[in-house]
Amino acid sequence: MSEVQGRSVTILGSTGSVGVSTIDLIEHHNARSPGTYRVVALTANTNAPELAAQARKLKPEFVAIADASRYGELRDELTGTGIEVAAGAEALEVAAAKTCDWVMASIVGAAGLRPTLAAVRRGATVAIANKECLVCAGDLFMREVRSAKATLLPVDSEHNAVFQVFEVEQPNAIEQITLTASGGPFRTWTREQMAKATPAEACKHPNWSMGSKISVDSATLMNKGLELIEAHHLFAVPPERLSVIVHPQSIVHSLVAYIDGSVLAQLGSPDMRTPIAYTLGYPNRIEAPTRRLNLADLGQLSFETPDTVRFPCLALAQEALRQGGSAPTILNAANEVAVEAFLARKIGFLDIPRVVESALSGCDAPGRAPASIAEALTLDQVVRDYTKRRLAT
Ligand SMILES: NC(=O)c1ccc[n+]([C@@H]2O[C@H](COP(=O)([O-])OP(=O)(O)OC[C@H]3O[C@@H](n4cnc5c(N)ncnc54)[C@H](OP(=O)(O)O)[C@@H]3O)[C@@H](O)[C@H]2O)c1
Repeated sequence: MSEVQGRSVTILGSTGSVGVSTIDLIEHHNARSPGTYRVVALTANTNAPELAAQARKLKPEFVAIADASRYGELRDELTGTGIEVAAGAEALEVAAAKTCDWVMASIVGAAGLRPTLAAVRRGATVAIANKECLVCAGDLFMREVRSAKATLLPVDSEHNAVFQVFEVEQPNAIEQITLTASGGPFRTWTREQMAKATPAEACKHPNWSMGSKISVDSATLMNKGLELIEAHHLFAVPPERLSVIVHPQSIVHSLVAYIDGSVLAQLGSPDMRTPIAYTLGYPNRIEAPTRRLNLADLGQLSFETPDTVRFPCLALAQEALRQGGSAPTILNAANEVAVEAFLARKIGFLDIPRVVESALSGCDAPGRAPASIAEALTLDQVVRDYTKRRLAT
């Protein structure tokens, strides 16, 4: 029998890339040992057909869809199943607050902040993929984690790698945390080529299959900048001890250097089911049906310094991390709007850093850090409105 037999789970953002990989693992284990995982709640934003299909398969108690206009469709699809159906942003918080052993926080963007916090506030074990909520309100979020005695398990492959090799008993022995970056699809492109990049090209990641927002963030290297801010909050490491190295093969998922000269890293094939499995079985390791790493077949691994001239989003995020205060919240909100505009073909790829920079320097926002979650979300909205107005002119 599995070590985790009967574990109850909720997936926030179940219809996304991380959500679907999580379900894949759950079904894999339940097929081998029925009842290993029991699903309590699932959520989506607009994708009612996929959410309904997942619910019919996994039989959760509760499903919630953020877009209230999809409620009727979802309810009709699940008539007669006995599954409770709800809609609207608050319904996601209800889903997150339901008692269960493990919550996957895999909503994309700052929209994930309130639902993830609802799980945190009941002291849940939360596998956190939603990096934007840590960028938007990192200090406040971590304060809530501590006061509710919640457990955070990093899902981002880099942070999961650091988590696996981080000696919690000796944080002072850590000299440097280095996050690896694939470099994205435009690693070798010139600025002239990038100026003409299409959303489809930006979303064609060389190693990972992901949702469109994180794929564009990977192409601009903003993703790595957001991850630096995420690492700062998750591991309480100051900005000067956090760095990035480009590693095009995405095999070494990150490294921790210690004061005795040792460098510990976690390696694996680029497949999100490995870090998800690490958190799903935690503290036990569970089997994941991923391609096994064969270093001899790979032959060599390479590393490069990131180019912040061709990829200014990384420099903008590094500066926001260094500045602190309201800068990370502004950076994140402006980036979400810019990426959405790029995906809608309203701006070019190279406009993304311009839009973010203009919000950081021109937005009429306070410089101090938000004092509450409500203040962080208000600032997030102010920046979104400001950025959208700028894009409209
Ligand atoms: N994909 C990866 O490999 C990967 C790796 C590491 C970290 N992450 C992080 O994990 C998070 C999810 O990434 P992803 O690639 O899985 O994203 P994704 O494929 O775009 O899926 C996002 C999920 O969030 C839901 N959602 C979107 N907007 C929402 C809103 N306003 N309110 C409520 N729910 C909303 C979506 O529902 P609909 O389907 O209805 O739109 C979907 O279920 C991101 O923060 C990302 O940075 C992802």
